[in-house]
Amino acid sequence: MRVDLTILPPPASPTRETCLVVDVLRATSVMAVLFGRGIEAVYPAATIEEGRVLRARLAADGSAPMLCGEVDALPPEGYDYGNSPGEFMRMAALPANRAVVATTNGTPALVRCASAPLVIAAAPLNAGAATRLALAAGHDVLVVCAGTAGLRSEDDRLAGGLLVARLVAAGAEPTPAAASALADFRAVATNFTAALRDSGHGRRLVALGFDSDIALCAQSDRYERAGTLRFEDGIAVLRPAEQEGMAS
Ligand code: MLT
Repeated sequence: MRVDLTILPPPASPTRETCLVVDVLRATSVMAVLFGRGIEAVYPAATIEEGRVLRARLAADGSAPMLCGEVDALPPEGYDYGNSPGEFMRMAALPANRAVVATTNGTPALVRCASAPLVIAAAPLNAGAATRLALAAGHDVLVVCAGTAGLRSEDDRLAGGLLVARLVAAGAEPTPAAASALADFRAVATNFTAALRDSGHGRRLVALGFDSDIALCAQSDRYERAGTLRFEDGIAVLRPAEQEGMAS
């Protein structure tokens, strides 16, 4: 098994590799929290407006999902919640069993990979669960960094290096890009929170008062569930993957 890493979503969806999509600050970290706290479905919207439309469509078919997301890290107008993993961790209980999530980079990156045989929303918070799913599938793996506004995002590349480390430890062969991210992650592993905080997006989050989110997003293996992407009635949805012998 080979593991590669791309610092931005590919121009077209991979068709042969398992995609571990990572947006550590904060979209796939939020998804790790939502699945870890028992949500049944997360609908990744490619745009903020699509999120609004999707929530209305899903509400018409059943219980209204939570509408979550961010523009410039803050909740868009008309959304129920922002995109803070700390906010969802602190809730006594999640207010719904489904969520629509629309963010600037993370959800578009997931949708971009939709034709891959397996797409997993991955983060340090669920790194073990996500990488075990990828290993069990047996395909080569592409770690897809969401980036920021179409540019390399060092926070995602370092988090991608953490995911590469887990796959290499299980015997995967890294490409040069994956090996480079792995080496850079290892260089900061003992001070990972500070490394994320020092990234471009990390500094923006600190300035907006989300410093505590960064410390949460830097934690490894706090949750043992990961969402995988599929289409239902033509709608992209992530559902928690069942794992043999996994504690829920
Ligand atoms: C993103 O999509 O880049 C992130 O979700 C942004 C954020 O949550 O601040």
